[in-house]
Amino acid sequence: MNKRKSRGHLTQHYRHRRQPSQRELYPQDRPCIGQTGAQHADWLAFREKIQKSDGVLFVTPEYNRSIPGVLKNAIDVASRPPGKSSFLGKPIGLVGNAPGQLGGVSAVKHLQNILPGISGPILGQPEIYLNGVGDAFDDKGHLIKELLQKLLQQYIDAFAAFVEKHNK
Ligand SMILES: Cc1cc2nc3c(=O)[nH]c(=O)nc-3n(C[C@H](O)[C@H](O)[C@H](O)COP(=O)(O)O)c2cc1C
Repeated sequence: MNKRKSRGHLTQHYRHRRQPSQRELYPQDRPCIGQTGAQHADWLAFREKIQKSDGVLFVTPEYNRSIPGVLKNAIDVASRPPGKSSFLGKPIGLVGNAPGQLGGVSAVKHLQNILPGISGPILGQPEIYLNGVGDAFDDKGHLIKELLQKLLQQYIDAFAAFVEKHNK
């Protein structure tokens, strides 16, 4: 799935609920965490943005039956310093997607392994694995497959309620 298109779609259609970040999740031209002891300004800004959020929605493709390395690095950055993960207490949503039939289920399962301990509660039901996304968007980034629209709307509604509940 084209991440820019899917993020654009979420921004456009769910703006009335929350404003998804327009920033890159994590700049790919910076060193991976662990490579240097430095605290880049981008890392601090990224952590602060998460800390100020009401919840975090992960929308991920699947790379070799797991999450892309750049997403893992972003999680690693946000999880530091030890015991002070920026995700702590934040309600979490997980959306898998893939051009194939399995919809990124293995990527989501890996997130379900990684996040407990460094995040808040993870929405368990409904689950969502968007499959066949290769031709699901038009040139403007609009989601054009009705079934996927319906599934995504159901998930977003459930996630919004989950976030409200945990921010009371
Ligand atoms: C290195 C790599 C590994 C991939 N592994 C999987 C996989 O395990 N399962 C799957 O469904 N798709 C896999 N794909 C296909 C991606 O789901 C698809 O390319 C998706 O559009 C990636 O979005 P991106 O190019 O914006 O990162 C893989 C793609 C790449 C580049």
